[in-house]
Amino acid sequence: MSVSVRRPSPSDASAIAVIAEKTFGEPFDRDRIGGLLKSGRDCSFVALDAQEIRAFADNFITVSETGDQRLELDLLAVDPKAQGMGIGRRLIAESLLLARELDVSIIRALVRSENLVMRRLCDSSGFAISERRYDLYVTSPEPGWNGPLDIEGTHLVPVETLAYSGIWIEGRLSRAGIVRALSVAATQQLQRVGALVAQSDRAPVQLLADKGFQAIGTYNWWTFKLKND
Ligand SMILES: CC(C)(COP(=O)(O)OP(=O)(O)OC[C@H]1O[C@@H](n2cnc3c(N)ncnc32)[C@H](O)[C@@H]1OP(=O)(O)O)[C@@H](O)C(=O)NCCC(=O)NCCS
Repeated sequence: MSVSVRRPSPSDASAIAVIAEKTFGEPFDRDRIGGLLKSGRDCSFVALDAQEIRAFADNFITVSETGDQRLELDLLAVDPKAQGMGIGRRLIAESLLLARELDVSIIRALVRSENLVMRRLCDSSGFAISERRYDLYVTSPEPGWNGPLDIEGTHLVPVETLAYSGIWIEGRLSRAGIVRALSVAATQQLQRVGALVAQSDRAPVQLLADKGFQAIGTYNWWTFKLKND
């Protein structure tokens, strides 16, 4: 197998969706993916063998509460028929090179705790696992939220993933912060709001449940640091 890697173009949307559906077992919107690629999403990669797309890594940049840029390794998927042949490792290596070129502070991936293959891959690619383990809570905002707009300690991260447009809540998970995230998401017609709750700190769980959030899995961050603090 001779694998080549390149940046995706809008015409790759369908091939990317097919691989995402096969690996994640849920539907992916081809028009959404095509639209994102057309709008200049330029941190992602596709891997090809014999002219056919076999895998993709979808990456994008976010900004932390302290203003540091991070490359989010958001989705990595290899066609089941091509798994175990080193393509995932190659895409992680390309993403790491790109992170260096972009001069971001870190590259990181939020990985399900039970995803042993991805954990091993992150580990042997030099990423470090978070000490904490997190439950991921998500909800779909309903129109009509009207919360305050500036809440100290809550950092909202707008994201456009291949699966959804949304907000990740970082920083302090207060009631006001959660309401603010829902308000912004509803106003901007975003599809999903997500928040991570460390398993060692259950205090925000009830706040999230009160606002309709549901837990969808347990995760660790895997981070490769490119700059010192
Ligand atoms: C996780 C994933 C991207 C890995 O890609 P891949 O091309 O199969 O992985 P590689 O061939 O580069 O192998 C990486 C390591 O995992 C191991 N591995 C790969 N597939 C494996 C399997 N099914 N079972 C056990 N180990 C496996 C390889 O042996 C290799 O380990 P080594 O370096 O210690 O030998 C791919 O399996 C996949 O698409 N999974 C479904 C989607 C997913 O979970 N994505 C990640 C979260 S977004």
